[in-house]
Amino acid sequence: MRRTPGGPLPWLATLAALVAVGACSTPGEQLPPAESQLGDPDRGAALITDYGCGSCHVIPGLEQADGLVGPPLTSFGRRMYIAGNLPNNAENLQYWIREPQDVEPGTAMPDLGVPRVDARDIAAYLLTLE
Ligand code: HEC
Repeated sequence: MRRTPGGPLPWLATLAALVAVGACSTPGEQLPPAESQLGDPDRGAALITDYGCGSCHVIPGLEQADGLVGPPLTSFGRRMYIAGNLPNNAENLQYWIREPQDVEPGTAMPDLGVPRVDARDIAAYLLTLE
């Protein structure tokens, strides 16, 4: 009896199912860490203040980042999803910061015209939040 058919696909499907199940029960353990190897978190922190993200978000470690319009960005490095939509990793977080209206048309977070290099550093800071 052939219990394990050849080829990598059945194995991958099993792994995908395990990851999906694990994602619900033990957040943070089944996905690689979202932290960014790229970008400058210190510059990102300064940029967050410049762009006024803190007028809408509670962001740990920053003065006057206590806005309640959007969700708090506490422990963002351990979040599974961005805006309940994109898996949380450095690339997706940069995309969200640059073009939230593209990711989720009509979202209450406006496109702030953040260029790529700034989004990279802002994401780097948010992903340091444990
Ligand atoms: C005018 C208010 C406003 C401003 C300014 C704003 N945001 Fe948001 N942000 C929101 C709202 C509202 C959401 C929730 C969007 C959704 O879930 O559809 C959000 C969602 C997010 C999320 C995902 C949160 C989660 O829990 O998944 C991140 C990350 C984020 N914003 C980062 C930023 C950054 C960085 C800036 C500055 C460059 C910024 N925001 C500026 C209102 C704002």
